[in-house]
Amino acid sequence: MANKTSKIQTIYDFCKKMFSLTTIPPPPSSHVVQKLSSLLDSVTPADVGLKEENVDDDRGYGLSLLNPFNRAPRWAQPITYLDIHESDTFTMCIFSFPTSAVIPLHDHPGMTVFSKLLYGSLHVKAYDWVEPPQVVQSNGSEYSQVRLAKLVIDKVLTAPCETRVLYPKSGGNLHCFTAVTPCAVLDILTPPYLEDAGRKCTYYHDYPYSSFPTKEAIGDGKEEEYAWLAEIEAPNVQMRPGIYAGPSLLE
Ligand SMILES: [Fe+2]
Repeated sequence: MANKTSKIQTIYDFCKKMFSLTTIPPPPSSHVVQKLSSLLDSVTPADVGLKEENVDDDRGYGLSLLNPFNRAPRWAQPITYLDIHESDTFTMCIFSFPTSAVIPLHDHPGMTVFSKLLYGSLHVKAYDWVEPPQVVQSNGSEYSQVRLAKLVIDKVLTAPCETRVLYPKSGGNLHCFTAVTPCAVLDILTPPYLEDAGRKCTYYHDYPYSSFPTKEAIGDGKEEEYAWLAEIEAPNVQMRPGIYAGPSLLE
């Protein structure tokens, strides 16, 4: 029988060819985004060695008890992190969530991220910074300042659904994931996080727009579309490494 190239190998080969290693890599072109998104759209759990978990698993707390602003996230079971590939130009990995597990609001500075929900339901809330930056200094001890961000998406995605792409300045570069049922996300990050290159992951709390009155008018009835984000210390997200059981990649 002829050796058929696995989907994940095709995706890997494409990323390796397209993503460049420069100090500040430009976001991928729209052609590359389109092609990679459509490759990812067709990936099933079986293609990456995953079995769909029992979606009736209700060991967690469910979404209904979550504060709409993520001040009191509930970490239920740990999230499993499966490393598929890591290089200077891109990272491919899978996050496997039990019900109610949360990856709190965080950013992807200068990065483009493709996220394909493989199975289950995931609540995604994402923001982009308002430009030019609107900052309010705070006298509180909790944080020194808050910055205005615009809501891009706040909804539950259920697989099968299209690959979501976030860019350095659009598409919801700051996001928070909450598992509504057991679910798994295949992520491709380009370039990967690298603190020395200014690509550090920072975590945030979001506060309703009404928390910090400003003179800037955002338009009546639009308050819901904005939030103030305050930088916080990296929360202790329970994450454990797992073993990727999909097809091995040929370099
Ligand atoms: Fe992320």
